[in-house]
Amino acid sequence: MKSVLSYIRKNRNAFRETWFDALRIPSISALSEHKGDMKRMADWLATYMVEELEIDACLVPTKGNPLVFGQTPHIPGAPTALVYGHYDVQPPDPLDQWITPPFEPAIRDDNVYARGADDDKGQLLCHMFSLKAWKAAGKNLPINIKYIYEGEEEIGSGSFVNFLKSQENRDMLAADVVVVSDNTMAGPNAPAICYGLRGLMGFELTLTGPSRDLHSGIYGGSVCNPAIALSKILAEIVDENGIIQVPGFYDSVLEISDFEHKATAQLPFNEADDLAAIGLSKPFGDPNFTVLERRGARPSFDINGLTSGYQGTGGKTIIPASASAKFTFRLVPNQDPKILIPAVRKFIRRLVPAGLKMKLTASEGAPGMVIPLESRFIKAGANALKKAFGKRPVFVRDGGSIPVVAALNQSLGADVLLMGLGLLDDAIHSPNEKFPLNCFYRGMEASAQLWNELGQLD
Ligand code: BES
Ligand code: MN
Ligand code: MN
Repeated sequence: MKSVLSYIRKNRNAFRETWFDALRIPSISALSEHKGDMKRMADWLATYMVEELEIDACLVPTKGNPLVFGQTPHIPGAPTALVYGHYDVQPPDPLDQWITPPFEPAIRDDNVYARGADDDKGQLLCHMFSLKAWKAAGKNLPINIKYIYEGEEEIGSGSFVNFLKSQENRDMLAADVVVVSDNTMAGPNAPAICYGLRGLMGFELTLTGPSRDLHSGIYGGSVCNPAIALSKILAEIVDENGIIQVPGFYDSVLEISDFEHKATAQLPFNEADDLAAIGLSKPFGDPNFTVLERRGARPSFDINGLTSGYQGTGGKTIIPASASAKFTFRLVPNQDPKILIPAVRKFIRRLVPAGLKMKLTASEGAPGMVIPLESRFIKAGANALKKAFGKRPVFVRDGGSIPVVAALNQSLGADVLLMGLGLLDDAIHSPNEKFPLNCFYRGMEASAQLWNELGQLD
């Protein structure tokens, strides 16, 4: 591995510059005006695969953004790793809070700042640059690598889920292990293997009352105010500790085992520092669980957006004609959105005052998942991380969701290796998203080591 690692170390700057080229493409899947940038980003990846990695690669068109697929020349009998990642990014707003523009990568304090620096361009490129290093060092790859990168993860992976419905497409992705780096380490220089992700279900609720905004002096006290009704309904969904009040919500929750309680308590996590990094001094939530447990292994409810009435400067004495909210629940394994969506609907409907119209749309984002730790691929991942970071990885459950990971696991019958390279305070989805240079450099090495470790499995 010496020659591969030395290639990575000698070419750190070149790899960084190539990464920057990818970061300059504003591939924002949520905004239709960036349709062209999605295609540009997909082309960029496929071109890199063909020209630099010298492998077969193509774009797979979908109803939405193209998938990028690449594969190394097939070695019969060798294990196959399928690398999954997403080349789409979140919208960068609020723009005025960025210290440097989101699509002009900048280095400060050994961090690279840009939208997508961590989520997920920085991480997915580590798995391509590692292959470049193997090639350039003239080493024969002992395994088969396939890459599948999608452009709709941040909007729910609709096209990729559709793609996975066909047997022919699943055959194309057939693999022994799905390798994903789209999550976090346990801390700086604390590598981790993730064995659980939370699921997600999303709602949008609109309450409509009068046919227009009304003067609150003329009508106040005599008509139902949709903003008040909405506030009351939302407030009923959780108690003061954030515990969800929808009947049956916790019925099938996978409980945290004693072993997990103990292991989670041992993780390198400083609650005070973690909160200070986001300007807080007190945690929130169910007192029966630790902060890490609440984040990774318990359900949660959040309001993501709330709209009603006058939002401009100064006051405006009105009763708004309508009010709406976007909200999501994070789910844990065994919770079924097909059961919980109707339960939430029933709970809300009962709380809507007479005289208001309710519209509630729901989307089944993703199920929660846990992965058995006994997999030999997880051992290979652990060895690779240990070699790259000089430290044995810890095992964590992440609170975020990657909608297709469970689907890949089931539909391909492949094990999953979640090897996050980001840090919790990388501000993904926020202004000033970053990815530490150290994560990028070590991440390339970990990936290069992984190909070697997988090649040594029998
Ligand atoms: N990479 C994240 C998910 C993530 C972050 C997992 C940190 C573990 C740790 C992913 O890009 C993401 O943001 N997912 C969305 C999914 C949604 C838009 C369907 C999420 O979790 O909100
Ligand atoms: Mn991501
Ligand atoms: Mn994301």
